[in-house]
Amino acid sequence: AAKGPLSGRHVVVTSGPTHEAIDPVRYIANRSSGKQGHAIAAAAVAAGARVTLISGPVTLPDPAGCDVVRVESARDMFAAVARVLPADIFIGAAAVADWRVEAAADKIKKRQGAAAPTFSLVENPDILATVSRASNRPRLVVGFAAETRDVIAHAKEKLLRKDCDLIIANDVSEAAGVFGGDANEAHLVSRSGVESWPRMSKEAVAAQLIARLADILDRSEAA
Ligand code: PMT
Repeated sequence: AAKGPLSGRHVVVTSGPTHEAIDPVRYIANRSSGKQGHAIAAAAVAAGARVTLISGPVTLPDPAGCDVVRVESARDMFAAVARVLPADIFIGAAAVADWRVEAAADKIKKRQGAAAPTFSLVENPDILATVSRASNRPRLVVGFAAETRDVIAHAKEKLLRKDCDLIIANDVSEAAGVFGGDANEAHLVSRSGVESWPRMSKEAVAAQLIARLADILDRSEAA
């Protein structure tokens, strides 16, 4: 691996959406492309880390130099993350489905005159909160908050509720064009305050985040 500010560190990144099966042919998904999470994995490789990228279904190529684990559902992602820990840094950039349906074993058939099916949702495990509270908790646990209003207030609430060290908050309303787009406007939320970054490419957000995390680890070790 390259020498760099994260040499000797293991970084685990989640990226992309999850797909939650309704039946063998249908699923619930979201608009995440994986661009932001994959850019973070690439930036961590460039900083010299050993990187494991756990990716939901995306059409992006695997970033060079990482171990990539491909998963479908939130529960698959949860199990994959547990398998690849311990790590020094965990970054949850994936848009994990909060809910799933109890999937049907066979294709749900449309029948003449029958009522439309209804689905009840079941909560998925929270990967970020579980990693934050694990006995082998990484030194730094970083979550994202994808919000369409009151971005910073919701991010602060998630930081506390999910026990993480940092949250990258971003606006995913349609007008912002963050889901699937090439740029992001991020706010770094910690217990000590909020730092708003200008709109920049997802690669630049990734590089800035990784540089910051390397710095925090170095300082906490020097203290
Ligand atoms: O993939 P792109 O098209 O590049 O878009 C990037 C992005 C908008 C998906 C990304 O920047 C982003 O915001 N990712 C987090 C999306 C999300 O699911 O946010 P949330 O606010 O619903 O979840 C908060 C945090 O908890 C996230 O770190 C999420 O990974 C985590 N989570 C959520 C639910 C769950 N069951 N387990 C989790 O770990």
